[in-house]
Amino acid sequence: MTEAKLEAWLDETRSFAPSPQFSKQANAQPSIYEEASADPVTWWRREAERLTWHDEPTNTLEWDMPFAKWFSDGTLNASVNCVDRHVAAGRGDRVAYHWVGDAEGESRTITYADLQSMVNKTANALIEMGVKNGDRVAVYMPMIPEAVVAMLAIVRLGAAHSVVFAGFSADALSSRILDSDCQFVVTADGAFRRGAASPLKPAVDEALESCPNVKSVLVVRRTADDVNWVEGRDVWWHEIVERQSDVHTPDYFPSEQTMIIMYTSGTTAKPKGIYHTTGGYLTQVASTYMNVFDVKPDTDVCWTAADIGWITGHSYIVYGPLINCATQIMYEGVPDSGGKDRWWRIIEQYKVTILYTAPTTIRTLMKWGDDLPKGHDLSSLRLLGTVGEPINPEAWMWYREHIGGNRCPIVDTWWQTETGAILISPLPGITATKPGAAMRALPGIGVDVVDNDGNSVGNGEGGYLVITHPWPAMTRGIYGDPERFKETYWTRFPGKYFAGDGAKRDDDGDLWLLGRIDDVMNISGHRLSTTEVEHALVGHPAVAEAAVVGASDDTTGQAIVAFVTLKMSTDDASKDQVAVIEELRLHVARVISPIAKPRQIILTPELPKTRSGKIMRRLLRDVAENRSLGDVTTLTDPTVVNMISELMGTEASSDD
Ligand code: PRX
Repeated sequence: MTEAKLEAWLDETRSFAPSPQFSKQANAQPSIYEEASADPVTWWRREAERLTWHDEPTNTLEWDMPFAKWFSDGTLNASVNCVDRHVAAGRGDRVAYHWVGDAEGESRTITYADLQSMVNKTANALIEMGVKNGDRVAVYMPMIPEAVVAMLAIVRLGAAHSVVFAGFSADALSSRILDSDCQFVVTADGAFRRGAASPLKPAVDEALESCPNVKSVLVVRRTADDVNWVEGRDVWWHEIVERQSDVHTPDYFPSEQTMIIMYTSGTTAKPKGIYHTTGGYLTQVASTYMNVFDVKPDTDVCWTAADIGWITGHSYIVYGPLINCATQIMYEGVPDSGGKDRWWRIIEQYKVTILYTAPTTIRTLMKWGDDLPKGHDLSSLRLLGTVGEPINPEAWMWYREHIGGNRCPIVDTWWQTETGAILISPLPGITATKPGAAMRALPGIGVDVVDNDGNSVGNGEGGYLVITHPWPAMTRGIYGDPERFKETYWTRFPGKYFAGDGAKRDDDGDLWLLGRIDDVMNISGHRLSTTEVEHALVGHPAVAEAAVVGASDDTTGQAIVAFVTLKMSTDDASKDQVAVIEELRLHVARVISPIAKPRQIILTPELPKTRSGKIMRRLLRDVAENRSLGDVTTLTDPTVVNMISELMGTEASSDD
């Protein structure tokens, strides 16, 4: 790439006009911005008509800041909205999921009628296990259709699911099960990744040693490996589900019934149980799915390349698409399972029209070279999306040129676990796009960028991103901790939702997201707190103190760098440092997840601190970013020590 080309890409004024082929789209008309901003509450009430209500709501919004209720006197069933109503309308033969396995050639086709039968049987099985309205059920599953079926069956009964990403450790799973007092777990014996089976059930068994309230575990057989079995507690899916009736008569629940609990990292060591309720969440995921992705359910084949263990999977693999009767790809593997061109082969084979993924993945695919996508027919694609972290203009342009053939608009969608649905994004056919900008708030959403005192910044200036009024899919709180909810999101700028992200308005007033401004790191689009990783490190017997920073990384956006001082009295301190570092990295992976494994651990005799004893994180970040230190470099390395002293000389009084 020439420097001039890069300059042009980085130019904030570079913009792509709304794509002509989208200008007559059926889903959203340019007038929707004005209609929605004239009266957002009424506009959302109209969007709620996308759902099938058992009792139509007469209330729309009740707002007792920061606690919102949407459509509170309406009743509905989430699973009926996702499945039954489509079958009843004669669309049972439509494919809900083209499931593509990790292994080459393994696939399943699941129609809406199939889904209905699977969900009903599973709901009947869960009833037999004792699940009832108001319960919480943990789901710890690989990317197989049974994961979606379990989620739908759980909410069908009025219970809430707490899906825990299957890459999380036994410790992480047990703390989540305990926090929301889940009494049931749905899991699988194992998962496949790049052709190899990896067990899941042992992590559940270990987690449940500290969760005495869990009565029953439903286990899907996926890898067919031997598993430890606890009689009276564990139940095979193929035994209990298969013998059930495929008829289940649903009950209907209040709009404010909790349906989702999803743990996400905050700035403390304890992840927050973000929960979502039914009517508002479903309304907004249904609305944004149609408007942002311009989905034509009769013809599109949509692929949200995410895991159901994250909110993106909940909102845009499960609920948003199913409510709209869309046809999707659900892919079990990683991008290079079966070869680095696997994604392009899937797109070619299934004629995928809409692809939604994270910048991290785009950068990885980009590194693997232009020839791989070039070797495949990607002409079916008509829209591309990105989510999870700021996208660098270079990756955006590569995505546009090499994947989207310069014809597909790119929607850079900003949102969070807490927001439930996309809040900031261009609308294809209506909004221009710029490489690296999420552009503007969606209709019905109020967004501002404010300075330290809460005053709106002008064009060309940066500040903190806030949401100015309630929206239907907003989290109703942190499970069991309303005070923490208030404190975390609503006190920094009273009356406004504080997202924790920095943002900038460019000269045209368009929005650019700048990343987190707190101690939350974004590693490959996964949220992790520095404190959580520090906590894991100091839990190791050899560690005296640890400080963790997120350093920029070309592929993963940010990477974890940990500075660690060892307890000199332990045997470990005299061990080979390479071995100690490796042991600590594995320890973090065991305690939290392999995604939390530090890229680099730097052993240091002490941590740089301010006079008031606060760790100087900014300085550590500088060290982590400015130098490419090998994995085993320690701060006793004179060059690093010099660098720290130099930086301390200039920043020693900083209280950062
Ligand atoms: O920092 C923002 C970043 O991801 C955070 C939310 O993470 P999580 O709750 O895990 O949800 C991710 C998927 C919705 C945000 O606070 N983020 C998300 N999307 C974008 C983004 N940063 C910049 N641009 C985006 N499009």
